[in-house]
Amino acid sequence: MEGRVLVIGSSGQIGTELVEELRTLYGNDNVIASDIREPQIEQTGPFEILDILNKVQLLEIVEKHNVKQVYLLAALLSATAEKNPAFGWDLNMNSLFNVLDLGKDKIIDKIFWPSSIAVFGPTTPQQNTPQYTIMEPTTVYGISKQAGERWCEYYFEKYGVDVRSIRYPGLIGYKSKPGGGTTDYAVDIFYQAILTQKYECFLSEDTTLPMMFMSDAIKATISIMESEKSEIQIRSSYNVSGISFSPKEITQEIQKSIPDFKISYEPDYRQDIANSWPQSIDDEYANKDWSWKPDIDLNKLSNIMLNNLKLILKS
Ligand code: NAD
Ligand code: SER
Repeated sequence: MEGRVLVIGSSGQIGTELVEELRTLYGNDNVIASDIREPQIEQTGPFEILDILNKVQLLEIVEKHNVKQVYLLAALLSATAEKNPAFGWDLNMNSLFNVLDLGKDKIIDKIFWPSSIAVFGPTTPQQNTPQYTIMEPTTVYGISKQAGERWCEYYFEKYGVDVRSIRYPGLIGYKSKPGGGTTDYAVDIFYQAILTQKYECFLSEDTTLPMMFMSDAIKATISIMESEKSEIQIRSSYNVSGISFSPKEITQEIQKSIPDFKISYEPDYRQDIANSWPQSIDDEYANKDWSWKPDIDLNKLSNIMLNNLKLILKS
């Protein structure tokens, strides 16, 4: 690989795990982690404090480390962005422009930027949501992701920028905590199942959403970035599917290991967000173009989460 990799937003839920995997693949010193805040875990390679809205600082770090690939993860997620729509729009859009412009100026060669199932809205078919369908998002987060997708395609078509993207579902892992999304309950529930054997859920029992275990999300991310340029036929963003479940279904899965676990439901403003999103995703294009296939089902996910969190929370 020519040049180094920069991960922006590396202290967050995905960045924490993605940096670890990229360093295993490319070597510790070849992956530069960066964030506006300190990392959640001890670093095995370079880390820089970076505010992605500061273009001068971004260019300095890119030049200092001879960066040729950028993974842009800094963003406000759905629930947090609803509380501060103007800042959500500012951060989610201008971070993307700052990185896309480095591609346009031929300073970097390749960009990964994640979109989300939040690009869909209440008028989208909710079952097996196709790659190409009605998209009328109702959250500022979803609007920013949909606009971002259009800009990614535009920069590819007009300026030849090699930008690649996937629409992550809700992500679940035990190595890092989520950062303000509507799907965060599906991580918190495991902590509370172990710590208190009870959980008050902010979504109703039958709210089914598309989800994915973090190892599958990291696999999809690296897989699309390592694919040949010619294989990436979609330059907006690819649907990718993992598993779909509701709070009731994940509770039943947890109760197989912790029979006394109890859930109660107190839906809040995040219920409206969840109601506007798909329940399951059709990812035939990702499968066809770059052979995407998930590994982890609900049973495996629940066992991995419980076994690992038990160890972490006891130590
Ligand atoms: P997160 O909130 O856990 O992490 C985001 C990181 O960005 C944080 O560490 C934060 O400190 C950092 N950040 C915020 N402002 C910054 C700035 N100005 N400069 C530099 N860093 C800044 O989010 P995540 O879950 O890791 O999500 C990463 C990306 O994936 C986002 O674009 C998000 O929309 C997308 N995504 C996540 C999920 C999910 O379930 N986690 C699902 C769909 C899409
Ligand atoms: N997990 C994310 C959220 O809930 C989906 O993009 O915001």
